[in-house]
Formats: sequence, structure tokens, C-alpha cells
Amino acid sequence: MSALGNPTNVFWHDCAVGKAERQKLINQQGCVVWITGLSGSGKSTLACSLNRELYSRGKLSYVLDGDNVRHGLNKNLGFSPEDRTENIRRVGEVAKLFADTGLICIASLISPYRKDRDACRAMLADANFIEVFMNMPLELCEGRDPKGLYKLARAGKIRGTAGFTGINDPYEPPLNCEIMIEQKDGICPTPCDMTWQVVSYLDEHGFLHA
Ligand code: ADX
Repeated sequence: MSALGNPTNVFWHDCAVGKAERQKLINQQGCVVWITGLSGSGKSTLACSLNRELYSRGKLSYVLDGDNVRHGLNKNLGFSPEDRTENIRRVGEVAKLFADTGLICIASLISPYRKDRDACRAMLADANFIEVFMNMPLELCEGRDPKGLYKLARAGKIRGTAGFTGINDPYEPPLNCEIMIEQKDGICPTPCDMTWQVVSYLDEHGFLHA
């Protein structure tokens, strides 16, 4: 059996500058804002808008976007359940490191399986993992179809053995997310509304000051 998952003869090395000092330096608290939801639900829109708003307030954040990360770190992964699990695990580990630097790390991935998201939550102190659920109906996401992938999936033209999330692969909604983004009276929140919802949470919970 491979020893890869079980490191032996390796040791943790502490550095003289700690998280608290880094946070003081940039006057904010490191955390992970984990945005989950179907393709086309607005995850990337929220991630970028939130990133911009935090920047304008002098707060440092960085976006880990599922599509983008799959161009580099995770380019050897597909969409089988095992590969999605590994995709989420790696992004969770990177997000944890970013949060440890004091950054507000915005992770934006479908992350369809509850156990994978919960495993990322378990990597951090609970309060530092802020799960944002884009609770948008499939019909809405499919109607938007910004990349034309739902159309391909319905036509059975997605290559490989994996299904497409929401069509023939499951999406498990969070049971206890910190923030839910949803329609009100059938109207979608604007990027500005969604961003405000998340920034308010970060502010109220003390993440925007050291
Ligand atoms: S995840 O399921 O592993 O969390 P991730 O967020 O990294 O997915 O990537 C999702 C993006 O990959 C989608 O926005 C879409 O552009 C693309 N994609 C390609 N094939 C699939 C598929 N079978 N299911 C879902 N998304 C897919």
C-alpha cells in the first residue's frame, strides 16, 4: 500500500512569525469563504464581486475558482466522484494555508458532496470556515447555461464517464451553511446584494479587523 496518505519521518516545523502577527500586519482575520452551488448559480460572479469589494475596503482576499484551479494545480483531475473529492481536498488544503497567512480566501467550486465540504470545514477552526450556498434552482442555472455545458449534458455529449452536476450527477445542498443566497419573490439578488450579504457577515463576525 502507498505511504502517500500517511507521512512517516516528517516533522512539523514552526516559524517565528505566527498567524496573529500576520493578521495584525494587515488588520484582518484569515478565513475561508467557501461558495458552493450548481454550475451557473453565480459562484464566480459573487467571488469576483466580493474580492473587488474587499479590495476597495483595503482587505486582502484571493479567489480559488474551480475552473481556474483545474487549469493548473488540479489539471490532472476529472469529474468522477473520486476526482471531485481530491479536487476539493486540495483546494481545501490550499485555502487553509491562505487563511493561515491572514488572507480572506474565497473558494468557489461546485463541491457537490457534503462530506467533502465538511472535510474542508474540519481542517479549520469552525468559525473560520464560512459556507455560502448559492441556492438557485436548476432550471435557472440551466437557463443561464453560460458555458453551454447543460446543453451538452442534456444531449449526452459530455465526454468521459462522469455525469454533469444537477443533470446526471448529484448535488447535495448544505444542511447548516453560514450564508444562503437565494431568490426573493422570484427575483435573483444582484451581485451587489450578494456581496453585501457576505461582507456584512464578515464585518459582524470580526474578520475585517485584527
Ligand atoms: S467540482 O465538482 O469538482 O467541485 P469544479 O467547481 O472544480 O467542480 O469545476 C466545475 C466546472 O467545471 C464547471 O463550472 C464547468 O465549467 C466544468 N465542468 C466540466 N465538466 C463538468 C461536469 N461533468 N460536472 C460539473 N462541471 C463540469
